[in-house]
Amino acid sequence: MRISKVVIPVAGWGTRSLPATKNLPKEMLPVFKKPGVQYIVEEAIEAGLKDVVFVTNQNKTIIEDHFDYNLALESVLERTGKHDLLKVAREVAEMVNIISVRQKQQLGLGHAVLCAREVIKNEPFALMVGDDLMFNADPGIRQLTRIAEAESMAVVGVMPVPEHKVSSYGVIQGEEIGPDMFRVRDLQEKPRSGEAASRLAMVGRYVMTPDVFEHLQDLSAGGPDNEIQLTEALRVMARNNRLLAVRVRGMRFDIGDWTDYLIANIYFGLQDEELRDDLVQRLHELVPPPSK
Ligand code: UTP
Repeated sequence: MRISKVVIPVAGWGTRSLPATKNLPKEMLPVFKKPGVQYIVEEAIEAGLKDVVFVTNQNKTIIEDHFDYNLALESVLERTGKHDLLKVAREVAEMVNIISVRQKQQLGLGHAVLCAREVIKNEPFALMVGDDLMFNADPGIRQLTRIAEAESMAVVGVMPVPEHKVSSYGVIQGEEIGPDMFRVRDLQEKPRSGEAASRLAMVGRYVMTPDVFEHLQDLSAGGPDNEIQLTEALRVMARNNRLLAVRVRGMRFDIGDWTDYLIANIYFGLQDEELRDDLVQRLHELVPPPSK
């Protein structure tokens, strides 16, 4: 099996990030110098995924525009001789082939994936959640595609989370069958702390086989948020013995969580040679060491 397309759902309301996201998509919130979603697209490119399918809605066209030329801006940069910045602006437009599909009603992540069916058709595909950033020399999604291609199976990316956080995630139940690799027997969506089958939580990186569309199609929207849950479709695959999990290595920031969002900005700021010393000093001023 060979994976070349990646689906990136970016059609959610982003209510946790209001008021910032009243008109600005959560996926466009800047993380240091780039919008969050650009890091996700760059991770996909590093993993050799060339076709990006955005699942979007009518308020999110700014995301597609970000990956397109801005001719007015380019002519200003050209005229004023800002060739470095011109290169930066053009690079974003040229980095990837974008295909967009609309999710007309926000019925959850499972429904967003189903909206990509007409484009993906009968191929396996990568799925990267639009607000989960991951950084590692071996890109997170590559860690999954490698296993999926070798085993011809769907794969979910998991990371260990503390006990008190399991109730925010879907967690896997299964057994370790190799280094960082698990056979998934079942899944629990947002289990109560103390009732979770494991602390291995799904973290926004997946490789799906096209049968996921059939399982999603069989589901109807439900639950407190009236959503079609991706986890429900994955449970069918797990019970059919057609689902693996990979423990993903790397740093992870959930852009929809304010602490993670702020830390991600600081993480990138600290890596910038020109800013680093000043930033460290300002952080010390903000948080003075405890007096002895
Ligand atoms: P989240 O559940 O984190 O996003 O979905 P949300 O619904 O936008 O945010 P909150 O919880 O209200 O703050 C993860 C990803 O899936 C997309 C989102 O855009 C986000 O990138 N998504 C979610 C969709 O594309 N469609 C949906 O119906 C829901």
